[in-house]
Amino acid sequence: MAKVNIPTFKLNNGLEMPALGYGTWLGLDEKNVFNIQDAPKLVEALSYAIDIGYRHIDTAHLYRVEPEIGQVVKRKITEGVVKREDLFITTKVWQHNHREADVEKSLRASLKRLDMDYVDLVLIHWPMSISSDGVDEKIDYLKTYRGLEAALRAGLTRAIGVSNFNLQQMSRLLDNCNVIPATNQIEYQRGIATIPKSLTKSRILENASIFDFELDEKDVAEIAKFDNGYRTDVPSFWQEYENYPFDKIPEPEKEIPLSLLKWKNGANLDID
Ligand SMILES: NC(=O)c1ccc[n+]([C@@H]2O[C@H](COP(=O)([O-])OP(=O)(O)OC[C@H]3O[C@@H](n4cnc5c(N)ncnc54)[C@H](OP(=O)(O)O)[C@@H]3O)[C@@H](O)[C@H]2O)c1
Repeated sequence: MAKVNIPTFKLNNGLEMPALGYGTWLGLDEKNVFNIQDAPKLVEALSYAIDIGYRHIDTAHLYRVEPEIGQVVKRKITEGVVKREDLFITTKVWQHNHREADVEKSLRASLKRLDMDYVDLVLIHWPMSISSDGVDEKIDYLKTYRGLEAALRAGLTRAIGVSNFNLQQMSRLLDNCNVIPATNQIEYQRGIATIPKSLTKSRILENASIFDFELDEKDVAEIAKFDNGYRTDVPSFWQEYENYPFDKIPEPEKEIPLSLLKWKNGANLDID
């Protein structure tokens, strides 16, 4: 079987994070309904990814596949392919769990679904706090982050960080935290860890077969010319919520997809 060899980055707390991970967001279909029917394919694809050498898995409460990930990891440990400590597993706290006291509860529920004692990294998924009914709860993300610091002290995770924070939010957080966040997971390129998602074996292999060459400065400058500010992920239906991190667009989508609120069409019908 083909194998990939993925280097690591050292996080600010000394933890080694593989520079390329396996993304597990199955996405929404054209009617904005969560693609839960792909969960069995994810089980097979993740199993293959671990077999060929992926050691970093990116998931989230929102993605509703924590049970599937837990099953695959357990099976790979039983088969002797990996030990738990060989893996770097990230999950995220969703927007309706931003109260300081709810953060640890959310992470404990994720751990239960993953059937694990700890994750390697837990992130605030977005800076906005929105109830499962779409109400803007306006909870300061500094409070949410304090909840993450408590989870770190409790040994539920080995590192903490954020996602989708803009520069101003990052700098405010850096000025007001006790534990410097280990990562800010955002859409970007070049010199950073990345987490492509694929359910296709040839692509899973191809995406991680990139560590046998280097781009020189001229190549990078050429590629940089293609940057026109395009984002794949523009959740404009959130743009009037407090702490929305990106530039607003003139004609935002009006309705938040139900799949991002009550999650009634997901694998886990709970909204802990
Ligand atoms: N923190 C956040 O808010 C946030 C937001 C978005 C994403 N993420 C994380 O980042 C991960 C990646 O983002 P994403 O899943 O949205 O998008 P992505 O990885 O950029 O794209 C996934 C799509 O690209 C296809 N694909 C993958 N490798 C390919 C290749 N080598 N050639 C051609 N097509 C390829 C996949 O198809 P097949 O599956 O059919 O192969 C799938 O349709 C997510 O899974 C999630 O873990 C986090």
